Order: sequence, then C-alpha cells, then structure tokens
Amino acid sequence: MTRVAVLKGGRSLERGVSLRSGARVEDALGRLGHEVESIDVGPDLIPRLEALAPEVAFVALHGGDGEDGTVQELLEILGLPYTGSGVLACGRAMDKVATKQLLLEAGLPTPPFFSFTETAFRELGAGEALGAIAERLEFPIVVKPSSQGSALGINFARTAADLPAALVAAFSYDGRVLLERHVSGRDLAVSVLERSDGPRALPIVEALPHAEDFYDFEARYEIGRTAFVCPAQLDEGMTERAQELALSTYALLGCRGFARVDLMLGEDGELFVLEANPIPGLTDTSLLPQAADAAGIGFDDLVGRILELALR
Ligand SMILES: Nc1ncnc2c1ncn2[C@@H]1O[C@H](COP(=O)(O)OP(=O)(O)O)[C@@H](O)[C@H]1O
Ligand SMILES: [Mg+2]
Repeated sequence: MTRVAVLKGGRSLERGVSLRSGARVEDALGRLGHEVESIDVGPDLIPRLEALAPEVAFVALHGGDGEDGTVQELLEILGLPYTGSGVLACGRAMDKVATKQLLLEAGLPTPPFFSFTETAFRELGAGEALGAIAERLEFPIVVKPSSQGSALGINFARTAADLPAALVAAFSYDGRVLLERHVSGRDLAVSVLERSDGPRALPIVEALPHAEDFYDFEARYEIGRTAFVCPAQLDEGMTERAQELALSTYALLGCRGFARVDLMLGEDGELFVLEANPIPGLTDTSLLPQAADAAGIGFDDLVGRILELALR
C-alpha cells in the first residue's frame, strides 16, 4: 500500500477533463489498495502536499501548468516522486513549435510550418508575410496556438480571407501561433506505455469523422462527432511505421512512463507527427485507456503500472 496524492483540476482550459481523469484514477488506485487523497491544484498546492506527506504524486492534470512542466518542477523541489514525464519533456511536448523543431532536427516527419509570436504580428508587421507563408504552405492552412490541447483554438483557413480571424482566435489562447500545412488523410493516435523492458507502442487509435462532417473540419473536432476505432485498420507495415515514429518522438522529447503521440497519415501513405501529449486523458472515453484495453491492459492495471514506474 502506498500513500498517493492525485493532482487534478487546476486552472487550465482542460480542467474539466482533468477532474474526470483524476476521479477515475482515484477509483482505480483505491481498488488497487492504495491510500488515496486528491488535491484540486491551486495556490495551496505546496502546503496541502506537505500536510498529506504522500509517498508519490499521480499527476492527472491536462494542459497549462500541469502538463508544461511547472507542477513537475514544484514536485522536484519538494523531492516528491511523480508519475509521467519530467520537467524538460513536459516543456518540450506542450510547446508544439519546440516539438516540431526537434522533430525536424532529428529528421522525423512533421507537416511544414511557420510560427510567429503576437509581438511579431503587432510590432513587426508579421501580417505582411502571410502572402509568402500561404504560397509555401498552400490552402487550407491549419492555424493553431503553440501550446494548447483538445483542439482548442485550432482553425482551418481555406482562403487568405480566413487567415486574420484564424490568427486572432489562436492568439487568444497563446502568444505564439503556428501555421501548418494541412495533411488530408487519417487521424491516428499512438499511445506509448513503458514496460519493464522499455517503452512500447500500444495499438493505434484512429479518429473517424462522421461522413457528413468529412469536409467540415471544425465539426470533426466537436465532442461526440467523432468515432474512435482501435486497433486502426492499417496494414502491418504501416502500423509498425506509425508505432516506430511514436516511439522515436517519445524518446526524442525524453518522455517517461507514458505519453500519446498524434499523427496524420496522408493519402499517399506518408506519416507526419503533429504533436505529443505528455499527460493524455485518462477518462472513460480517452484514447490511452482505449489503446491499453486493446492490448489487454485494463484501466486499473494501466494506473498501477504508471504508479509503479514513478516509484522506480
Ligand atoms: N496539419 C494538419 N492537417 C490536418 N489535420 C490537422 C493538422 N493539424 C491538426 N489537425 C487536426 O486537428 C486535431 C488536433 O490537432 P493537434 O495538433 O493534435 O492539437 P491538439 O490535440 O493539441 O489540440 C488533430 O488530431 C487533427 O485531426
Ligand atoms: Mg492532438
């Protein structure tokens, strides 16, 4: 039996998902026989941790401070072991631009992109460069905030006229945005879970839009408008390539314990990494638990393994 503090909630835009992940993790830890206390992360985080004196923290936070390395840094300062990736990996993975630059440097495929800050836009007239960007990326262009999750602030600009509004929307989430070439094809998620012999890729989950949403990009990402299939219907070679790419991305970012890598499979069979999530959702509809289940790892087992890795 281990005394575990489950960290959930927080101030991020993904607070709601985190509360659900956290509740489910608490139940699983209870069933596994651990002593569980939960903390809704806020300004009293440190005194609450000091009062509880847990042996380990289970970080069930998504987005913002909980996934970008901030909370992890505090846990390091307190000398408290915690689940999942460390400060550096979280920082790299939560920043899509940093991730993509590392991928490019390592020769791993990611869609071509340009990125600039709100300062460059407001004070250096970066807007004047949009024509050149559009020429190099071609429409539709995907506009996204550099650090956000759950498709928040992501817009598809079909023409030049759509770009200003898409940029304003993305800047409302983050001071850095990226404009990325659109990959038309299949939407794949590869979860990675560390085993005693190292990280392993789990069966692939494919997100399938409803037929009527196929050409309506925004509708595809509304909750409930997408069906998930696991394992994705891919031939063995493609499955292996996607899993290899996810494992390479995991290693490149320095992730630990578990993570989920989001990919696109282009119509010509080319794979691209979009991003990595150091703390993917753990709710009953989340992709990592689905993938683990397809590999014969039930939710309690998944949570138990993640905890064990933190204590090692
Ligand atoms: N370049 C792209 N081409 C096609 N679809 C994209 C592209 N970028 C993002 N998307 C779609 O938007 C979804 C969310 O994008 P992603 O980069 O994973 O951000 P997040 O999940 O953090 O919101 C993807 O799963 C994919 O369906
Ligand atoms: Mg994603």
